[in-house]
Amino acid sequence: MPPGQRGILILWFENSLLVSHNAGQLVSPIQVQQGGQTLYPSIYGANITIHNIAANENELAVLTREDNLYYGSLGVLSNSIIKFADQQIWSEGAALMFTGTGMLDILTPLLDANFSAFDFQKCSVNIQAILMDPQLQVEKCKVMVSNPHSLGLQANFFEEKVTYNWNIKYRLEIYLKQQHLWGRTDPNFTSSLKRPTTSTLTVDVANKEISCIDNKPLSTLISIGCDLDKKIVVQKKISACSKGILDPVALQDNYSYVIEKEFYNPTFHRVKTDLVVKYPYQELGCPHLVYYNTPWKPVVELWREGRFQEVVEAEYVVREAYGQVAYTYSLTAGSALCVSQPQNWTTMEDSRRGRKRFFWNRENYVSCHDPNSNAPLQWPNVEYQILGGPTANQIIFKQRNGIYIFFLSIVDPYYSYCHLSTVFSIYVYGAYPLPIVPPQFTIFLLVTSILLSVWLAYTIPNFLRTERGRRIKTFWSDLCWGCKELCRCHRGRS
Ligand SMILES: *[C@@H]1O[C@H](CO)[C@@H](O)[C@H](O)[C@H]1NC(C)=O
Ligand SMILES: *[C@@H]1O[C@H](CO)[C@@H](O)[C@H](O)[C@H]1NC(C)=O
Ligand SMILES: *[C@@H]1O[C@H](CO)[C@@H](O)[C@H](O)[C@H]1NC(C)=O
Ligand SMILES: *[C@@H]1O[C@H](CO)[C@@H](O)[C@H](O)[C@H]1NC(C)=O
Ligand SMILES: *[C@@H]1O[C@H](CO)[C@@H](O)[C@H](O)[C@H]1NC(C)=O
Repeated sequence: MPPGQRGILILWFENSLLVSHNAGQLVSPIQVQQGGQTLYPSIYGANITIHNIAANENELAVLTREDNLYYGSLGVLSNSIIKFADQQIWSEGAALMFTGTGMLDILTPLLDANFSAFDFQKCSVNIQAILMDPQLQVEKCKVMVSNPHSLGLQANFFEEKVTYNWNIKYRLEIYLKQQHLWGRTDPNFTSSLKRPTTSTLTVDVANKEISCIDNKPLSTLISIGCDLDKKIVVQKKISACSKGILDPVALQDNYSYVIEKEFYNPTFHRVKTDLVVKYPYQELGCPHLVYYNTPWKPVVELWREGRFQEVVEAEYVVREAYGQVAYTYSLTAGSALCVSQPQNWTTMEDSRRGRKRFFWNRENYVSCHDPNSNAPLQWPNVEYQILGGPTANQIIFKQRNGIYIFFLSIVDPYYSYCHLSTVFSIYVYGAYPLPIVPPQFTIFLLVTSILLSVWLAYTIPNFLRTERGRRIKTFWSDLCWGCKELCRCHRGRS
């Protein structure tokens, strides 16, 4: 039955009639009443044999072999039936059905004498009219619409001071009783914080008279979960095109770029050569400009229904789409003040063996600032790969100019019930191209030439003092003198 998607369970047999409003957790017998008094606490004592029943959201009709019709209401708190006046309505094939609130049809099949078929005799019962009969001693419905009552739901925010960095987290717990349908809900009945949940809430008037046919219990479905209108966007204040570093026309024209093999994760691609990547301009537009020499992290914005909401301060992770590894993180597990071993892309990949897929999100994220006996902090020197949140972690690029395409996923389970993720591109510039000659060689050359000149400065004066040195010196000064003469002659002639 539809109300609250939870239905009413009715269990019946010839001399037993039980009802449950919560899928069988609590099952109660239906009482037989007369004039506001309980005649029998259950059908069993009433010495009747049930032939057939019919029910809707809040009404119940029972036809017995003793040729009696019973009628009752299915309230959340009380369930009872009363006996209507005797009438010739029972037959072996008789059936009941509600056609509307307070409208009951009793159908009796009649064999057609001329065809091998059945006709139906239909007896329509207007319950409200019958209940007016003073013989039944049914009290008038006294439920009045007075001042509307508002119904509050208790939603508690717990302020939780995280000792690290004076950060305050808010926990939300909603006290709504959940149905234990099919064992899929929490054993503790309260909504879970990490997983989206749904609850139903049913409102009924307590102890109302059986004549209150039109005062049905009202049900509503409450869903605690992701608001699908939310999405995240990475701020792009300066694009590489507006600064004239990349040409938007060239980018749109099937632009592709090369990732040298030393700059991508070797486990990421089977081919171990430089990678040629086509730039998806349609999806990503012009890349955001980032200077290589400055630590950087993306500024993530939350948007809802096309409107900016806030800058996201929650924890998130990024990963280069083509496995580029030309960057590191400014913090390590130790300097991020982790108390347990932080997760990283390697461990998150291993947990899904065989398939190299990005799988790090709010459901499998475990903060390293929470004590975790399964993963004590063993290697404080590993990279801390989580950005945002309480730490000042940033990305440090290696000396390489080029395009990076990043996948970004918000992992903080308390930020949103949605799996917020996005893809964006940046262009890292300002890195000088790496020298062709290795720096060690340059240093070697420099040191060698210095040593050589020192050695020459020492040996040349010593050499000139020797006999051979003196002869060479004379030869050079003669040559010099000859030169001077030649010049003078030349000048005199002109
Ligand atoms: C139950 O009903 C039968 C016939 O309908 C009757 O003979 C019997 O006496 C009744 N028993 C009680 C306890 O009322
Ligand atoms: C059966 O058919 C006969 C003759 O065609 C007709 O007179 C009679 O009324 C029919 N009976 C019923 C129950 O329809
Ligand atoms: C229900 O919650 C209480 C307190 O939060 C906890 O001690 C208990 O183990 C929980 N029961 C189950 C079945 O999860
Ligand atoms: C881009 O490449 C596709 C196929 O790879 C081709 O069909 C298309 O014409 C190219 N566009 C331009 C502008 O070169
Ligand atoms: C990821 O974490 C594991 C331990 O949890 C560590 O052994 C490994 O070196 C880390 N990887 C990187 C790239 O930091």
